[in-house]
Amino acid sequence: MTTQTKTNTHSGSALDGFIKMFYELLKFTVLMLWYFVSGIKKNAKKIKEDRGMFAMALIGSIFIAKVDFYHSWWPYWTPEIFENLLFWYKGLVGSLIYPLTFFGVFGFLYYAIIGKTESDRIKRIKDAVKILSKGTDSEFPKVIRIQRINSYKTKVVVESPFVGVDSFTKAQNDLESSFNQQIEKIERASSPRYINIFLNTKRLPKKFSYSSVKDYCEKPCHFILGEGNSGLMTQDLTELPHMLIAGTTSFGKSNFFKQVLTHLLQNTNHMQMHLIDLKGGLEMRPFKDLPNVNFINDIQSAVATLARIKTEMDERFDHLYVNGKNTIVPKRDKKDRIIVAIDEASVLYMKKYAQSAEGNAALEARKITDDLAKLARAAGINLIIATQKVTKETLDTHIRENMSGRVSFKANDDAASRTVLGNNMATHLPSVKGRAIFNFGNTYEEFQAPLITDEEIESTVNELRKEFVEGTKKIFQPELITNAVVTSQSEVKNYGKGSAKK
Ligand SMILES: Nc1ncnc2c1ncn2[C@@H]1O[C@H](COP(=O)(O)OP(=O)(O)O)[C@@H](O)[C@H]1O
Ligand SMILES: [Mg+2]
Repeated sequence: MTTQTKTNTHSGSALDGFIKMFYELLKFTVLMLWYFVSGIKKNAKKIKEDRGMFAMALIGSIFIAKVDFYHSWWPYWTPEIFENLLFWYKGLVGSLIYPLTFFGVFGFLYYAIIGKTESDRIKRIKDAVKILSKGTDSEFPKVIRIQRINSYKTKVVVESPFVGVDSFTKAQNDLESSFNQQIEKIERASSPRYINIFLNTKRLPKKFSYSSVKDYCEKPCHFILGEGNSGLMTQDLTELPHMLIAGTTSFGKSNFFKQVLTHLLQNTNHMQMHLIDLKGGLEMRPFKDLPNVNFINDIQSAVATLARIKTEMDERFDHLYVNGKNTIVPKRDKKDRIIVAIDEASVLYMKKYAQSAEGNAALEARKITDDLAKLARAAGINLIIATQKVTKETLDTHIRENMSGRVSFKANDDAASRTVLGNNMATHLPSVKGRAIFNFGNTYEEFQAPLITDEEIESTVNELRKEFVEGTKKIFQPELITNAVVTSQSEVKNYGKGSAKK
């Protein structure tokens, strides 16, 4: 046994022990430094397949393990002068050597395992992109760089001169299972020859409440999307300026819709909302009590309201023209920001009513919405439309094209995902309620929407009502809100001539 040998060959030589310990500790320190500097630090910036690192970690563990052996069989070279000085030291080293050895070996093995796991992961990533070479012998697509962005985000740069970004997006499912990691986004790099794939190991929360995040952003016209991979995501509605919310039923459209409206109502002054909910109308009821909300739950009033807003838009353009301005600024122009929010929009736009009165109304609604989507930005009017189905029958292509902010909860099939996002990302979402993709321009981000309860909406509505009574919240054009007007067909038909107004 080691201890036995040590006592036999080394009795009384403190300096011997010290020098050897010192020598070993020095080696250990140098090794550690080398390891950290060359391995880990390099890895923090650029993960390379570093088998050397793995080998080094193993050798390191053996070195440390041997410290104890050296202690016993290294030759004698003890200058007498240190004997006394080191008498106490031997005891100290003697008591430290085992824990030190233990932690040394443990530490190195730990890093060895991490290094091994990392190199396995890199191999998996390299192998995975080969599926896109479609069985040809081509060396492309080829992973040329794997870069750690932070502790959970990795960027993989792929050189792919023949396979476009669309093919990567289509293969996202397969890539994810080969990577054994979630893909956050796939995009063309600035040079078209390269494609960036962003991987993320961070798990988004499955559920969290609106009240836990509602104070995070109190800027006017901003709303909360949800928790994304780099934190809570918020968005300025006026930047979009219209938003489409889609996805299979029961995955959280209406919840998101209500949450967005609540947040906008809470933080924005001089804003009015025309809230159309044709499906039962129970869900949106709490908003009804607000003086700046016009609540509509039948198709004729919906069309009449849209018509009134179209007229208002035209008048706002005249106003801008006369005043030589480009956009409505509510405070300056004494005109409210108008939000037209429609849940289950397919009910409103459905063509199936054919020749019936509802059918005509649906057609009118489409026409007006198209105009609003195209032109309303400058007039300070924003649309928020939620619908389960996004097809020609439910939402005109024109309208869709002008809704530049898109949120899609889980989609049933690739076709559904593509009509909303232009790719399959919504099909690949996990089956988690409230999980969605936000698309604006070229960005696609997955997020988990907060869950808002009726109580949370009601308490916000109560607070807001107080603010209206106290006069801290105001609207400039209450006449647009009073819903007592127009439900008759004649007025609906005449919307373009302005008779539907007031
Ligand atoms: N963000 C969310 N987090 C957790 N659960 C949610 C979330 N959004 C919706 N849910 C759950 O899913 C149910 C259906 O949501 P809903 O918004 O009515 O879906 P949709 O309008 O798409 O049919 C809700 O009653 C709620 O229990
Ligand atoms: Mg719904």
